[in-house]
Amino acid sequence: MTNKIYTMSDMHVDYKGNFDHLLNLNDPAYAEATLIVAGDATDDLGKLEQLLSHFKTIYAEVFFVPGNHELWVRRGGFEDSVSKFWAIVKMCERIGVQTQPKKLGVGDKAAWVVPLFSWYTKPEEGEDSLYYDKSSATNPVKDETEAIWSDNFFCRWTQLKTNQRVVDFFLDLNVATCQRDYDAPVISFSHFLPRQDLIFPLGNWRQNLSQFKDPLPQFNFTGVAGTVDLDSQVRQLGSLLHIYGHQHRNRHRKEEGITYISHCFGYPKERSQAYWRGDNLPKLIWDDGEIEVESEF
Ligand SMILES: [Fe+2]
Ligand SMILES: [Fe+2]
Repeated sequence: MTNKIYTMSDMHVDYKGNFDHLLNLNDPAYAEATLIVAGDATDDLGKLEQLLSHFKTIYAEVFFVPGNHELWVRRGGFEDSVSKFWAIVKMCERIGVQTQPKKLGVGDKAAWVVPLFSWYTKPEEGEDSLYYDKSSATNPVKDETEAIWSDNFFCRWTQLKTNQRVVDFFLDLNVATCQRDYDAPVISFSHFLPRQDLIFPLGNWRQNLSQFKDPLPQFNFTGVAGTVDLDSQVRQLGSLLHIYGHQHRNRHRKEEGITYISHCFGYPKERSQAYWRGDNLPKLIWDDGEIEVESEF
């Protein structure tokens, strides 16, 4: 029995072209394999179930964690994003999609796949934010992220306790998962980013941001990207490999001993950009006990 694991995130199937492409996805190679879906498929629960159910017919195992888009409550009758989150977890259970750790394969081909629930820390919410101030004396920009970012309008957190941060609600759900023992290599995954360096391209771009053309200067993604507390959980798990999504910038990096991979399907217009890396297919990341080898990008 082989143990192959594929991943893809940010499928955004509200774009009909994305949905059609993914519902037509099939390959005999998937039949004994696993697919990790790292969030942001759609806020439409019916479509999400249809998509994940399709993957269940072509893959042996499917794993999922919600992204920010799943937790929008602009439609579908949910009062609050927390109740929608639990409804999604329940739906996954019902159709056999994994949202909890599971061991796949046997012997030296085995791996544990460990889902981590997460959110992001805004710069004003704490030091664990991945925020990077892109404004400088030579290139001043007015940060209007708060007014632009859709989660601020489409998510509702009325069920959280006073002063409870959204990010802590999700990371607290992972505590038991991070404390237990695993008897095979751990492949963890989340929707959000665990590290600031993953936001930026390889090299020292962080220090030279002003020389690159910024298509949307008033928006700063780093403030809604993730949290370093998620990386602490990844390291507590002893993950060999961590998969994430959310930024729509594909990566394959090794940082302080852990390999990080992001493989987003993304929006149709993104896939025509010069920076885009991806072939519209789930990416093979684990092949019978080994991480798929690739040079860093
Ligand atoms: Fe996304
Ligand atoms: Fe996202």
